[in-house]
Amino acid sequence: MTSRLPDDFFFGAALSGPQTEGCWKKTGKLESVWDHWSQQDIDAFYNKVGSYVGNDMGNQYRGDYKIFHDLGLTSARTSMQWTRLIDQTGALNREGADFYHEMLAAAKEEGVDLFMNLYHFDMPYYMLERGGWEKRETVEAFAGYARTAFREFGQEVRCWFTFNEPIVEPENSYTEGNWIPFVHDFKRAVTVQYHIALAHALAVREFRLAQKEGLVRSDAKIGLINCFAPPYTKEDPSAADLEAVRMTDGLHNRWWLDLAADGTLPQDVIDTLAARDAAVPARPGDDELLSFGKVDWLGFNYYQPVRVQAPEADADEWGNPVFARPYIWPERRMNESRGWEIYPQGIYDFGMKIKREHPDLEFFISENGMGVEGEDAFRDESGVIQDDYRIDFVRDHLAWVAKAIEDGAKCVGYHYWAVIDNWSWNNAFKNRYGFVGVDLMHGYQRYYKKSAEWLRRVATTRVVE
Ligand code: FCB
Repeated sequence: MTSRLPDDFFFGAALSGPQTEGCWKKTGKLESVWDHWSQQDIDAFYNKVGSYVGNDMGNQYRGDYKIFHDLGLTSARTSMQWTRLIDQTGALNREGADFYHEMLAAAKEEGVDLFMNLYHFDMPYYMLERGGWEKRETVEAFAGYARTAFREFGQEVRCWFTFNEPIVEPENSYTEGNWIPFVHDFKRAVTVQYHIALAHALAVREFRLAQKEGLVRSDAKIGLINCFAPPYTKEDPSAADLEAVRMTDGLHNRWWLDLAADGTLPQDVIDTLAARDAAVPARPGDDELLSFGKVDWLGFNYYQPVRVQAPEADADEWGNPVFARPYIWPERRMNESRGWEIYPQGIYDFGMKIKREHPDLEFFISENGMGVEGEDAFRDESGVIQDDYRIDFVRDHLAWVAKAIEDGAKCVGYHYWAVIDNWSWNNAFKNRYGFVGVDLMHGYQRYYKKSAEWLRRVATTRVVE
């Protein structure tokens, strides 16, 4: 099947500072929660590979932008690290700022428009010690960091984002307790989720102010990136199954979509949370602050759908409210390495939901990709990884993107996660996502996989075959 994307549709790479830069002790960088956790318990990371090196992009970015250019990619999104840009007193760290100025200039030289996100799960450790997202002080500190970043890089960066996947920390760090600080408390998770929403809104306010003052270029825009997951349930759902969908959709999707599109939070979700002893810590005046949360466009990360049904019990083993339990769709197809369902149609379904509910809101696919374990097994005689599974994955998703655009969705581009293999939190380098591999045994050297050639064709012709 052949699909075509519009001529002005852009292709690029999705990445993040903490997963690529490395240089963890250089430029006066402070410890993030990942650096701290790596230091404390390296066994928690696959093959004992901690956060320190990323994929060494901090040293190799010139070559990496050349690779992007060679593959026909015209933009890339990374993130600044709060711990590199700002010192412990809240002031700009000049050495850290220069690191990013140089990176931005190098990207530009290769014709790569570098989009800049401000936060990708990488809380400074000293902020976590002060209570992290559970505290209003952190919200204010984040707004201060954003203000500094906008003013320092306002003439260089065109596309800004406040957060990547803000739903992940409330879940992984405060409900499931798998990530530092290992908490299993839904009430605290709701506080974290609410404060991140406020931090986003305050950062957008800072952006608008700096733009008004002429400190941010007039063509710049700001957005929010989330891993939106279209929620599905059984074919013949009960009222309780539909209720499970309402709250799952409410906490994962609508919370962030409403904030980004309208500057509000979904009232039905707020009411249910209050009824389940997990009220948001709202203060008078917050609604006005949240109204600044309206963005210029949205990043939609898509990996997998979420399939839910009514829970069996109201509370989990820690006494936290449970709103849903997984529903295993009999026809599901899995990426076994990652344990994630592959369902390309989800990208269409959610794209159409954005179109239906917020017809004016422009968006792009800000992450989509396939991580596979043990890719060396796919090397041919000449040593090239034959990753046809990756080509199939991207082709199928892009076909649904093309259809969504045909049907009126305002989807303007696609960033693949991650064009070059990188470090993935606890999984470190277990699953490889890249069209370009990284050889950990030989100086993090880059090498092309079969799919790189295919990507170049798609990115330069916009024809997907
Ligand atoms: C996403 C994250 C990104 C990366 C991919 C595989 O959820 O945004 O950092 O780890 O998953």
